[in-house]
Amino acid sequence: MCGIVGYVGDNKSIEVLLGGLKRLEYRGYDSAGVAVIDADGHLATRKRAGKLQVLVDDLAAHPLGNGATGIGHTRWATHGGPTDVNAHPHLSADGKLALIHNGIIENFSELKQELLDAGAVFSSETDTEVAALLVGREYEATNDLTEALRRVVARLDGAFTLLVMHEDQPGLVVGARRNSPLVIGLGDGENFLGSDVAAFVQFTKRAMAIGQDQIVAIRPDSVEVTDFAGAPVEVEEFEIAWDASASEKGGWSSFMAKEISEEPDAVANTILGRVHDGVVTLSELDPIGDEALADIDRIVIIACGTAAYAGMLGKYAIEQWARIPVEVDLAHEFRYRNPILTSRTLVISISQSGETMDTLMAVKFATAAGARVLSVCNTQGATIPRESDAVVYTHAGPEVAVASTKAFLAQMTALYLIGLHLAKVRGTLAAAEIRENVGELQAIPAKIAEVLAVSQAEIGQLAHWMTDVQSVLFLGRNVGFPVALEGALKLKELAYIHAEGFAAGELKHGPIALIEPGQVVFVIVPSPRDPDSLHPKVVSNIQEIRARGARVIAIAEKGDAAVLPFADEVIPIPLAGTLFEPFLTVVPLHIFGMELAAAKGLDVDQPRNLAKSVTVE
Ligand code: AGP
Repeated sequence: MCGIVGYVGDNKSIEVLLGGLKRLEYRGYDSAGVAVIDADGHLATRKRAGKLQVLVDDLAAHPLGNGATGIGHTRWATHGGPTDVNAHPHLSADGKLALIHNGIIENFSELKQELLDAGAVFSSETDTEVAALLVGREYEATNDLTEALRRVVARLDGAFTLLVMHEDQPGLVVGARRNSPLVIGLGDGENFLGSDVAAFVQFTKRAMAIGQDQIVAIRPDSVEVTDFAGAPVEVEEFEIAWDASASEKGGWSSFMAKEISEEPDAVANTILGRVHDGVVTLSELDPIGDEALADIDRIVIIACGTAAYAGMLGKYAIEQWARIPVEVDLAHEFRYRNPILTSRTLVISISQSGETMDTLMAVKFATAAGARVLSVCNTQGATIPRESDAVVYTHAGPEVAVASTKAFLAQMTALYLIGLHLAKVRGTLAAAEIRENVGELQAIPAKIAEVLAVSQAEIGQLAHWMTDVQSVLFLGRNVGFPVALEGALKLKELAYIHAEGFAAGELKHGPIALIEPGQVVFVIVPSPRDPDSLHPKVVSNIQEIRARGARVIAIAEKGDAAVLPFADEVIPIPLAGTLFEPFLTVVPLHIFGMELAAAKGLDVDQPRNLAKSVTVE
């Protein structure tokens, strides 16, 4: 989704804008542009289709001059193709005002017609240019940039973050947001705006999150936030918990490789400060309160993609420990199925970015229906946490690669902590049982590190052998099933290979027809030690597909001898309790997806067609 940067302060706007856009590249985009007020006091813009480097090279060859006021944008095309003309910024009719936009203006057609009827001339196919012409018209009427933007946003439907600047107003950038992200960076004699804190974290770690339907005017020595009606709004400051280097590759071949290596820390840091003497203490749940948590009679987990698979694993843990029925729903399905929600329903939303529009709209729907909403999120100051009754932040650090890895494990960790907290509050687990599960969870980071140490090279070789493979199946049972789904998704989004995850028990109900000689199948094998485990059944599944020529890659517990005769490859994982196995079995699948994409020469961090945060529905 689009990246947005705004700056007012010293004469370094181009440096700030390009540095910020670089850190926002992971959001996915197809063109980039900047606008500054140059040394002669004129508004100057440059925008180019393609990667940011195309714009950087163009500016190096034809500099705009720096200036102390600027806005920058990376565009993920919605209305109109990725061309220079459609790139942002867009200008007012007199060319003195520049505007950038993240989101979709749903009523742009009627507004465009109104402008055309008034004689306006458009140069692009975008909805954004409608906003630029409208704000330009209102500025001519008011000579007040903030008021001009306020008048226009009152007329817009849909989701938008807008930034505007005017050559008659050097040292001023005004922003407005509805259903789309915008945060403020507070500097000394300079201030910043960004889609998320990555836009300015290299310059300041002091930040403020702007709320729904709010407008912010930044000047080098002031920040003014008002609502769409013009009333002043108090906004809380927070400190960004990670530094700029955390969002750098740090010598790794890709952000994804770096982030997989951080999976142990993502789990450990999400536990940190939330367990004392074997007891889970989640003060973040206080806004809902233990009394209300003891009273809930149903949980609905809503999320998209990888986050939804983390939710499926959370279901197993929460139902096992807290004995509350848990449904998991894809956020974009949830609000259209007329779900049954009451004041005793707890909706848990999971989102790494905290900006996924499908999930945000589902959260709003749940709140309106009277349910309590708890969010699990990895991005401070993001929109979804601000729309929730409570939030448990995962502490995975910035996840830059589009394919989610460490955040998945951190989301599981947060859900397991929530499950243990609920078990404590509801008395469904004895203190000793809680302590035992907490101990298992605390042992996970070291076990993930062991998987990384043992399997990375072997899986890389396996991937190089499979660069011509056209389809891969993933089988898992019980907690292995969401892992199978996650493994398949990684292969789809990274290596562009058809891949499908199945519940292994489903095999004979249809999917076994897909098995033919050479078909590659990953099988997530449960522990043989658990008397209730489905190990024997999964081994039978392996025999069934092997008999039909499948090439079986088993992810199995170290020392599981029963698997050896039937698998072509076995990737060993350390011993863990059944509920904790997914933390370990998913790691080889993350590595495999990355290695196969790399072996095929694909862009591991920014796969085609994808964005890190899907901020449009
Ligand atoms: C995961 O690898 C994908 N990039 C995608 O499925 C992602 O998990 C999904 O879009 C949800 O994103 P969120 O966690 O930021 O809400």
